[in-house]
Order: sequence, then C-alpha cells, then structure tokens
Amino acid sequence: MKKIGVLTSGGDGSGMNAAIRSVVRYASHNGLEVAGIMRGYQGLIDDDIISLSHRSVSNVINKGGTLLKTARCKEFFTREGRKKAAATVKRHGIDALVVIGGNGSYHGAHLLFSEWKVPCACIPGTIDNDIRGTDATIGSDTAVNTALDAIDKIRDTCTSMERIFVIEVMGRDCGFIAIESALGGGAEDVLVPELKFDLRKICERIKKGRLKGKISWIIIVAEGAAKAQAIAAKITKITRLETRVVVLGHIQRGGIPTAKDRILATRLGSAAVDLLLNNQYDKAAGIVNGEINVIPVREAIKKKDLKVDNFYRLINILT
Ligand code: F6P
Repeated sequence: MKKIGVLTSGGDGSGMNAAIRSVVRYASHNGLEVAGIMRGYQGLIDDDIISLSHRSVSNVINKGGTLLKTARCKEFFTREGRKKAAATVKRHGIDALVVIGGNGSYHGAHLLFSEWKVPCACIPGTIDNDIRGTDATIGSDTAVNTALDAIDKIRDTCTSMERIFVIEVMGRDCGFIAIESALGGGAEDVLVPELKFDLRKICERIKKGRLKGKISWIIIVAEGAAKAQAIAAKITKITRLETRVVVLGHIQRGGIPTAKDRILATRLGSAAVDLLLNNQYDKAAGIVNGEINVIPVREAIKKKDLKVDNFYRLINILT
C-alpha cells in the first residue's frame, strides 16, 4: 500500500476535519501518500482529487464542516456511477479509501468494494448517531450540545412568558439528538421515532400541570417522529393554549467540535488507516466502551437499536 484516498460524504458533522487531519498525518507517519477526494463520491465521479500533506491539515482540528466538502451523490448509487468512481481510483494510483460518513456513505463503500474491489475502511461521521458498532458518531456530541444551547435560550423566554414551546431537532430516522437534548435540557416531553406517542395524553398532562400552576412547557420533537408545526397546532386545538414552534435545523450540523468529537474523530482517523495497513477491507471502525471496535461494513449499516426507554422514563418522572 502506497497511496490512500480520503473523503467525507453525506451530511457533514463537526469533527470531520479532525478526522481528516488524523487520517492524513497518521498515514504520512506510516509512509503513505494521501489523496483528498472533493465532495465525497461526487469527486470520484468528477475526478476532483487533491494532494494532501501534513501541512494541508494544519489548524483544522477545531473547525466545523469539512475541508474536503461533502455531497449526497445520486449518481454513485447507480452501477455506472460506481464504475466511473472505481476508474478514477485506479487512474490516480489510489490503493484504498477512508470513507467518513453516515449510513448511505457506508453502503456506497461496501458496494465499491464488492463490485469493483476498491478497498475501503469506514468511520462514522453523522450527527444522527445511527451507525452500529460505535457508541458515538463524529458530530453527534456537538449537535446535542448545540441543541442544548438553543433549548437553554428558549427556556428563558418560555419561562418568562409562560408558554408552550415545541422544538424540532434533527434526526431523520433516529431520536438520538432529541432524547439526549430533552434529558439534558430538562424538557417536559420528547417525541422520537423509536417510541409511539399519544398526543392526547401529552395534552392531558399539560392541562393537569396548568391546574397545579405549571405554565411553561418544552417539548422536543425529532424530525423523524413528527413535524413540530403540526404537533403544536394539534396541542393548541386540543388544549386551546397558545404554542410556539422552533425548528433548530442545520445549526446542529456546524460549529466548533466539542472535545468528545475531536477526540473520537482523531482516534477513528488513525484506526481507519490501521485497518488499511493491515489489509482489513470493507470494515468499519468505531469506539465502544472506550476501545476501538471493528465490524464489517454490512453489519454497521443495519438499523441501530437506540435504547430510549430509560431516558424517556426519566424525562417523564422529572417533569
Ligand atoms: O446528516 C444527517 C442529517 O442531518 C439528518 O439529521 C437530517 O435529516 C438530514 O441530514 C438533512 O439533510 P440535508 O442537509 O441534506 O437536508
């Protein structure tokens, strides 16, 4: 192995730059050349490749986003697209790839290996924390902290004006950000895709709370569970109480990575290079209970079973 490529793909997350830095410097330390692929798989299809050295990744460990840019590449999900991508890899003399991304990116890496024998190692970069074989994904801790910061601010106005707020956080199919930020932010309720919810019961609790003098209420909604706007409208309809809606959106994807995300990214970047150096292909590295954990990519992309019950119980008890 002489030369590896690195790419970030899918939705970005804070800490991806720290991961790229680690890949580049750890690979250089081991005598490898590193090619940076721009815009994820799109860069392989378009032949948009740059050379990366130790110096190219100076001063990025604390930066959000990804210096390699990222994209959701539809063409790569066709066999023809992957054929073009594999040809680019060959033309540039790239022996193997480190893929930093979420579920779709892992799936792409698995196909690139199984169809075109391009060796890949994957590390989890997504705010959703929905990848198996790792306790956390790069960007997920920063996203929760960003959501918490926003919830804290909303709490000030929510309490002062004695209102009901419905706050929507990201998480397409996964309630991770919602459940963590609800518990950490002291929310009164949370709606996640992993649990069925009964809006009438929530409204009953709001009404009972009113009778006891509890006026302000914060409900966190994962985007994969429901739309905050619709939930707020139904609450108003049932309780006849005014509601306000905040959709936090993409602020959760950016910003200075937390210590946890930087450390996770740095450890995983080097772990991915180790996998390639040891001819371990089509594998995904994560961290479980503080230790590097390696599983086949096809296992990592199976639906992650997020345990939300205990958090949910606690949120309700502590309301
Ligand atoms: O990357 C994951 C994620 O942030 C999801 O939580 C969200 O549903 C989705 O990406 C949004 O994607 P886009 O930025 O492409 O609209």
